[in-house]
Amino acid sequence: MNFKRNLLITGGAGFIGSHVVRLMVRKYPDYRIVNLDKLTYAGNLANLRDVEDEPNYCFVKGDICDFEAVYALMQAYRIDGVIHLAAESHVDRSIKDPFTFARTNVLGTLALLQAAKCYWETLPEGFEGKRFYHISTDEVYGALPFDESRFSERTKYDPHSPYSASKASSDHFVRAYHDTYNLPTVVTNCSNNYGPYQFPEKLIPLFINNIRNGKPLPVYGKGENVRDWLYVEDHARAIDLIFHRGRVGESYNIGGFNEWRNIDLVRLLIKTVDRLLGRPEGSSEVLITYVTDRAGHDLRYAIDATKLKEELGWEPSLQFEEGLEKTVRWYLDNASWLARITSGEYEKYYEEMYAGR
Ligand code: NAD
Ligand code: DAU
Repeated sequence: MNFKRNLLITGGAGFIGSHVVRLMVRKYPDYRIVNLDKLTYAGNLANLRDVEDEPNYCFVKGDICDFEAVYALMQAYRIDGVIHLAAESHVDRSIKDPFTFARTNVLGTLALLQAAKCYWETLPEGFEGKRFYHISTDEVYGALPFDESRFSERTKYDPHSPYSASKASSDHFVRAYHDTYNLPTVVTNCSNNYGPYQFPEKLIPLFINNIRNGKPLPVYGKGENVRDWLYVEDHARAIDLIFHRGRVGESYNIGGFNEWRNIDLVRLLIKTVDRLLGRPEGSSEVLITYVTDRAGHDLRYAIDATKLKEELGWEPSLQFEEGLEKTVRWYLDNASWLARITSGEYEKYYEEMYAGR
């Protein structure tokens, strides 16, 4: 079949990536969507069961750091657009194991950039009609004092954790490829996402699960840190829009205009889970346990997404209370998904399938 476009999505088996793959596969049946993912602990094909048999979707297991394999894949599938989400994404893990973060986030992004550049240069039309879209985070801007206005695209980078330092470095490489080689790049920096299919090490899915099971809720420090939350499908919609209509060489901030102190969010989560489980509302507050703070814990993130709104008309679609309730319901209804992704069952299933090919 001849496809109108051939897109490579990296990290498509992860949390945000799986929503982006699902949206692209369904919305653009005339595009071929190639999902390249290493299937680390955070990536799972169980996140994509509902689209895995679609004729315009295919999965390739591989490592973005492997330049030769990525180049061969781009050539084989005639890739003309890259949406790059693959990364190590958990701040606490980066504190314990910074090398893995530098390897995947920095060297992996560099390998992808170089493969796209080298492959597209071999084509008669060169970079014409091509796009390299790099997904980044608001954490590159560092910690925002309570009395300062939100991060804009002009805010200076000031990363503090090994995770945010590795993402900042990858963003710089992407911009360098645009400025030096004219690679048609675009970068976005998004705030905290929440929603279905998030690995249960991150605050919201971890706490939903612990509330359900009556386990302690480890709140770092005094719970006063602030995050700006966005429903993951709103992020995926923004990615679709920016991939198609964002200006080459530009950066766009994406955020929820939705700041919450951790402790207030935890209380809202408790109320919601208790209510949906038919328990007295707030009865699980006894589970709140204040623990030693995360090292270098950024006080506050808040994104100003005005540029995206004014240029491309994007806005978050969901109120937080509504999105959170939808999310809690999803995790409560999908306990078997949780058990599966934490058991390694899907990796085993895939290894067997892969070995037989
Ligand atoms: P995730 O950890 O859920 O998923 C990451 C995916 O990348 C997994 O499927 C994993 O298997 C894959 N991967 C890891 N190393 C790889 C490698 N070397 N080669 C190929 N695949 C590899 O992450 P997420 O939360 O979905 O985040 C996706 C992207 O969005 C990341 O770049 C992250 O920095 C960024 N981001 C995340 C958030 C958030 O709140 N989660 C917010 C803003 C930006
Ligand atoms: O801002 C965007 C970033 O959001 C993304 O780039 C990262 O990939 C993503 O993991 C997320 O980073 P955070 O560190 O903000 O997310 P996390 O869910 O780990 O933590 C949210 C807040 O809750 C943070 O202030 C730390 C706190 N926390 C977290 C955990 C896991 C706790 O108090 N207890 C916990 O057990």
